Amino acid sequence: MAAVAHEFTVPADREAVVVTDLAKAYGGSDAFAIEDITFEVPQGQFLTLLGPSGCGKTTTLRCIAGLERATRGRIEMGGDVVFDASSKRDVKTEDRPIAMVPQSYGIWPHMTVLENAAFPMKYGRKRVKEKGDIRTRAMNVLEQVGLADFADRWSTRLSGGQQQRLALARALLCDPDVLLLDEPLSNLDAKLRVRLRGELRQFQQQFGVTSLYVTHDQAEALAMSDTVIVMNQGKVEQIDSPEALYNSPRTSFVADFIGSANLIPIEEGTAEASGVVVAKTSVGQFRCETVSTTTPGELTSGFVCARPENVMVLPVHDERALAEGGIHAKVTAAEFLGDRVAIDVAVGGLTLSSSMPGPLRVQPGDEVAVLIRPGDCLYLDR
Ligand SMILES: Nc1ncnc2c1ncn2[C@@H]1O[C@H](COP(=O)(O)OP(=O)(O)OP(=O)(O)O)[C@@H](O)[C@H]1O
Ligand SMILES: [Mg+2]
Repeated sequence: MAAVAHEFTVPADREAVVVTDLAKAYGGSDAFAIEDITFEVPQGQFLTLLGPSGCGKTTTLRCIAGLERATRGRIEMGGDVVFDASSKRDVKTEDRPIAMVPQSYGIWPHMTVLENAAFPMKYGRKRVKEKGDIRTRAMNVLEQVGLADFADRWSTRLSGGQQQRLALARALLCDPDVLLLDEPLSNLDAKLRVRLRGELRQFQQQFGVTSLYVTHDQAEALAMSDTVIVMNQGKVEQIDSPEALYNSPRTSFVADFIGSANLIPIEEGTAEASGVVVAKTSVGQFRCETVSTTTPGELTSGFVCARPENVMVLPVHDERALAEGGIHAKVTAAEFLGDRVAIDVAVGGLTLSSSMPGPLRVQPGDEVAVLIRPGDCLYLDR
């Protein structure tokens, strides 16, 4: 499929979006819904705001769209300042180089599919004068999202997935520099979500349009994004690639939110000059890698973080367990899951989860040795 030629006004060497110190307190409230939000989106990137319900994702997106006025901060698009609280600059939504796909799709029921798609070219920021051009361009994009055959159908007579694709087509036809998407797949069933997230990513790459995507679904965020911003209670927890978020979470919140994690509270520990942390916990002693900037010395808080796939459950007298300091534990749950086995063990007043390749060799009540190797656990300072 050939991509439609779009004129992008953002010079290639500029960040498409720069958000600096953004904060928003809704009217009548002293509390900030979002605070200290700072990030950049390079040209053509797919960036996702990820976090639990109420953490401020929609607020951030709506401030960028100009649908909400931030209390503090600055927003630049393609080098132009579109919002600056201190100088009171606030470019109107329709004059910002964006298109937004809201959660509810925003499809107009009294129009056909083609009329919906063509609407921004008739009335939007970048109007197209030639009627024939409008139709050709709209049909071209409808073709790409698989809706050309439905062009003359009333838009209400589309399935949820088709409406979602129409909303996306219409947003692309605004010819935006930046595409804003607020949980566009959230109303769809699980299978369709997975299929459409792949399609959406494909369209985004074909059109090369810079995209800011909002979701609370970590799998969606990991699968689609170049960069993910994990938000918690109105603030940024971590900005990283999907791989880095999974392998090197910086906080226990991120470790727990992305995939699953065993978080073992530290009683006392020592940060060595090499960056290794030796930590004493109720489970036992661990040597951990660290990504936090830890100054050498004593530690009294934080966590040892280990992914379930890095928690090995072995027979008590297993040679490796004996040689490498396996910790005595008791199995509390054991399940065969086809491609792997999931085992919970009780140790030191905690339950640790393990995920290993099969077969299942233990059952609840068994005494076992648990082994978490130094390279497989991480020290997190909060
Ligand atoms: N119009 C509003 N007036 C007052 N408070 C609001 C308004 N909109 C959102 N909030 C509050 O701001 C905070 C952030 O809300 P926001 O909608 O940005 O969260 P979200 O991350 O998008 O959540 P969700 O995943 O549920 O959509 C919440 O505490 C919410 O109650
Ligand atoms: Mg929201």
